[in-house]
Amino acid sequence: MAVDRDDVQALVRSGFGSLGSARYILVRIVDSARAKAWLRGLVPTRASEVGEGRTLDTVLQVAFTRAGLRALGFTAAELESMAPEFLDGMASDARRSHRLGDVGESAPAHWEWGTGAREPHVLLLLLAGPNRIADWASHVERDALANGFFLVTTLASNPAPEDTGPAREPFGFADGLSQPEIDWDAKLRPSARADRAYRSHIAAGEVLLGHRNEYGAIAGDATGPLVQRNGSYLVYRQLAQDVTGFWGWLRAAAGPDGARELAERMVGRSIDGAPLPGLAHGTGPEDFDFQGDPEGFQCPLGAHIRRANPRVGDDPLGPRGILGNLLSTAGLLGTAAGDAVASARFHRLLRRGRPYGRAMTPEQAMRTGAPKTEAGLHFLCLNASLARQFEFVQGAWLISPTFGGLSQEGDPLIGDRSPFPDDRRTDLFRYHDAQGMPRIAQGMDRFVTVRGGAYFFLPGIEGLASITAR
Ligand code: HEM
Repeated sequence: MAVDRDDVQALVRSGFGSLGSARYILVRIVDSARAKAWLRGLVPTRASEVGEGRTLDTVLQVAFTRAGLRALGFTAAELESMAPEFLDGMASDARRSHRLGDVGESAPAHWEWGTGAREPHVLLLLLAGPNRIADWASHVERDALANGFFLVTTLASNPAPEDTGPAREPFGFADGLSQPEIDWDAKLRPSARADRAYRSHIAAGEVLLGHRNEYGAIAGDATGPLVQRNGSYLVYRQLAQDVTGFWGWLRAAAGPDGARELAERMVGRSIDGAPLPGLAHGTGPEDFDFQGDPEGFQCPLGAHIRRANPRVGDDPLGPRGILGNLLSTAGLLGTAAGDAVASARFHRLLRRGRPYGRAMTPEQAMRTGAPKTEAGLHFLCLNASLARQFEFVQGAWLISPTFGGLSQEGDPLIGDRSPFPDDRRTDLFRYHDAQGMPRIAQGMDRFVTVRGGAYFFLPGIEGLASITAR
């Protein structure tokens, strides 16, 4: 069944890349009755308001943590049908933190928000043009504080670029390019033969609860007083990026002239977002996959984008006919590396992040004595299954030092570099240089530190009404 766009918050449909700046207002509920009354008066932007020639001046979205839903009066039993990871929370136990790479400086004990009394109940996400955002955000903040809320913190993104160029994350790379496209009109027939080739079109149930997912099953649970339909789980992590550390390490590892090329191998795209040479089979930034590069000569097997989305269908070797399928089912075709990265379509994330902090060019960041500044990504993503999508991609593909046949290397951008229990290092990066020579970069520093985070539920419009009616 087609998705009712009128019942979905707009963030699912668009990241509003061109719409000025964002404010993330994180609040706790101190007076449940007043907070509910105030929340009932909010008018979140709907997916139906996006596109078709319309431009929006402001966008407001509302999401809740499990603690927020409890504070609004839901009993633990009433929330049981929600995802266990959402109920546990991002920072709830040391094993989860270890899997997500939230260790050392990134451990929840060091977070600026997200735990204890600084665990938010509600996220109010505001987007507006640069002239409007600050006033509007302080107005909403004041209003919330006068109506039963306590402010944990308000975080700001950088303004979107004024030129038509792509948004860039603080290391300087074009960001937000590869995104799955939701099948709003329910046209896909998941698990058909065509699924063996890479596609970016995904079943609505991979992002929205109450819809068919890539397994053909309905995502979420329709029981309980909270309406889950047309809602989505929203992951929010504030990731601080050590920009001078990143470019300083690259300069030391590859020299000032080779730093950019090595950085591009680490990301898996050119700094301006183009596919790496030899991969593109069309003109767009999305016209590529890794089918013709099984050994990682063009795009290293451990590059950030290859870990985050290995771009293979059900079968890493692609379509190969009835006999080939039978041999594959019998385990007579394929490789361990291939199997490890199979079925990427079950692990897609709809990213909605924005950068913050002082921007610096790679040249400025490589200068000796360049000042350390606070910059990073408000990493937000939407998915219907926290376990199978965000936690799997983060833990098994990005953080794990044994991925796709590699070992001793974590994600080159966000890897935590913690050694194995037997002390073997995890700070390597294997790649082939422009001449095709195999190389190993060693001693990578940790470039990204978590400052805070939480799992939210972004309800549909009817879902929001079911929450505030408690
Ligand atoms: C500060 C941390 C991070 C930085 C600087 C960063 C940077 C980038 C860049 C430059 C790209 C390529 C452009 C694009 O397709 O958008 C990219 C792609 C991507 N990143 Fe990240 N990223 C970060 C964290 C994460 C995290 C935490 C996740 C998931 C848990 C993630 C998942 C992805 C995915 C799914 C893609 C698209 C891959 C594809 O389909 O080709 N990233 N990232």
